[in-house]
Amino acid sequence: MTQLIPMISEEEIRTQVKETGHRISSDYEGKNLVLAGVLKGAFVFLADLTRAITIDHEIDLIGVSSYSGTTSTREMTFTKKPDIDLEGKDVLLVEDIVDTGNTLSALLEYIKTLNPASVKICTLINKHERRETEIDVTYSCFTLEKGFIVGYGLDYNELYRNLPAIFDLKL
Ligand code: IMP
Ligand code: MG
Repeated sequence: MTQLIPMISEEEIRTQVKETGHRISSDYEGKNLVLAGVLKGAFVFLADLTRAITIDHEIDLIGVSSYSGTTSTREMTFTKKPDIDLEGKDVLLVEDIVDTGNTLSALLEYIKTLNPASVKICTLINKHERRETEIDVTYSCFTLEKGFIVGYGLDYNELYRNLPAIFDLKL
């Protein structure tokens, strides 16, 4: 029987997302900020984060379906490439959760080829247990040692993205 155990409340999420939005607003003052949300998982976080940021910024969406190969030969398959010309922009990649780090490190390499002024990472959850590729995560709302969580955009087989809070999934 599938069990959903409450883990992070709506209130805790709201507080952390607001706080992260304030930090980003002050760090990116006077810069050309582009929030680039990674589909699909980041869509709920992105919607709240953009409204917690008080400076002007652009929004884009990136869809990555898979990656293959080693770091040097990694190929990304995009379901949606960025629409905005990111050259000279200060890109902030917005993710739901960093797990192995493989998706984001490949995406970082790709974004860098577009000659942005800077590229950094903002994730709702930074999960450490299975990290394979070391990446620099500048903003993270919550840290998780291990487990599989759902809700607030995060899915299990495409379900549970709609839950307003975050739950530990026990199968
Ligand atoms: P990775 O960092 O390349 O391993 O990929 C991270 C992606 O795996 C996330 O963007 C999620 O789509 C998915 N993922 C990893 N851990 C979880 C979890 O606990 N719940 C839901 N999705 C997860
Ligand atoms: Mg994701």
